Amino acid sequence: MAEAKRATKADLKRVDNIIADYRRQRWGLIPLLHEIQGILGYIPPEAIPRIARGLGLFPSQVQGVISFYTQFYTTPRGRNIVRVCRGTACHVRGGKTILKLVKQHLGIEEGETTPDLGYTLETVACIGCCALAPNVVVNSNIYGHMNPKKVASVFGHYGGK
Ligand code: FES
Repeated sequence: MAEAKRATKADLKRVDNIIADYRRQRWGLIPLLHEIQGILGYIPPEAIPRIARGLGLFPSQVQGVISFYTQFYTTPRGRNIVRVCRGTACHVRGGKTILKLVKQHLGIEEGETTPDLGYTLETVACIGCCALAPNVVVNSNIYGHMNPKKVASVFGHYGGK
């Protein structure tokens, strides 16, 4: 997992520059969080007290907003986001085995990111392509009719694993 990664001094300098644009503008919290995440790929926990100070909020208020919105991440995300479908159609056609093999292939569990930041693994309820079940999505590419042999070849397109 990549949770242990800490923001570098350069990252925090970039954060401070963004905060400067929103100084004392409490309403600006969400756009500011989007901007930080857009540049760094996540919101480093070390940035939270700085954001709070800059906007005149309590750190708990900033943390509360980050926790409330699922699109904000406080750990780095992989360059490639892998989503294995756990919906009913995919489940009955072997989705559980596909998920197990993807976990084995990447060496991570759901919600985790590989140490080289190559991949983040998630599951989804249904991606709306049940006819192709079981499905795996990498970024915006759908891989349907998955079977154990196809797992490694899917990741061959993205490198790193
Ligand atoms: S259940 Fe997997 S795509 Fe619908």
